[in-house]
Amino acid sequence: VSGGLPGGPLGDWSTARPRRLRRTPALRRLVADVRVHPADLVLPMFVREGVDEPVPISSMPGVVQHSRSSLRRAAVEAVEAGVGGLILFGVPADKDARGSGADDPGGIVQLALADLAGEVGGDVVLMSDLCLDEYTDHGHCGLLTADGEVDNDATLVRYAEIALAQARAGAEVVAPSGMMDGQVAAIREALDGGGFTHLPILAYSAKYASAFYGPFREAAQCAPRFGDRAGYQQDPARSVGEALREVALDLAEGADAVMVKPALAYLDILRAVADAVDVPVAAYQVSGEYAMIEAAAAAGWIDRDRMIAETITGIARAGADIILTYWAVEVARGLRSTR
Ligand code: PBG
Repeated sequence: VSGGLPGGPLGDWSTARPRRLRRTPALRRLVADVRVHPADLVLPMFVREGVDEPVPISSMPGVVQHSRSSLRRAAVEAVEAGVGGLILFGVPADKDARGSGADDPGGIVQLALADLAGEVGGDVVLMSDLCLDEYTDHGHCGLLTADGEVDNDATLVRYAEIALAQARAGAEVVAPSGMMDGQVAAIREALDGGGFTHLPILAYSAKYASAFYGPFREAAQCAPRFGDRAGYQQDPARSVGEALREVALDLAEGADAVMVKPALAYLDILRAVADAVDVPVAAYQVSGEYAMIEAAAAAGWIDRDRMIAETITGIARAGADIILTYWAVEVARGLRSTR
């Protein structure tokens, strides 16, 4: 019978030939069913108060802390590449215990949001990370009690104030990342009370206490002065049930979309969340995921471009509708040129 395999190591004759569809690039392109579009990508951007030139981040080669004007130029480039969203992180000049810069109308993120609303508003979704760690002198994501614990409910009051400040400055989506219990409800209530019923919340719902955030803490200058974030971010050694509970709570509190973070070491969580919900699911390919590929590539040990494409494809295959990545612009350009 033609097409059959003779006996051999497989024993019985078989007609199964899965390799047929892999034979040529054109065939592979035809049957591929995981596709990332530039509009699915969100670029995280840092903007630093008090600098006139962009400041390089040594642990994230190619990523900078922007000045207000370099941020505008980079945002225009991102829009030209077709990325779907920008998410802003502020690096204030001064920090204090309550993170005053986070909701000051003259604070760096508020100014940058207004700049970008004028420059690229309508062409891309302007998002803002909503947290306190970049703004507090102790580096924690919330207010502290007298004995140095993160005070959940006092922090919620601050998050509500920050949400309003960001909304007034022009944020089109707010993304709370502090992992306080009840944060989505507190922010939803504040936004609705302030006339922002239309403004969506993208909740960092399943966020793990991860070593992969290391380079970000240089980028945002927000490493905790003492302790760590394991008392509020999730334990990597807990299975998917806890993530699903966090997601369910956030949706019940009014989240419009949810996020899993980091991405690469949490693809099982991402798949489970994507299967469980019918809202958009985002995944954040975080700073350490970026740094390890850039570092290995700089050493000449890996094929950088293929690693970027393969990891992003893996994140999409695991169920992400939206992918936050520091390579968003480069990847979006590549996707456009191959279409
Ligand atoms: C908290 C926040 C962090 C990141 C995004 N939002 C840092 C943290 O939780 O320690 C990490 C992003 C990255 O590593 O790329 N505001």
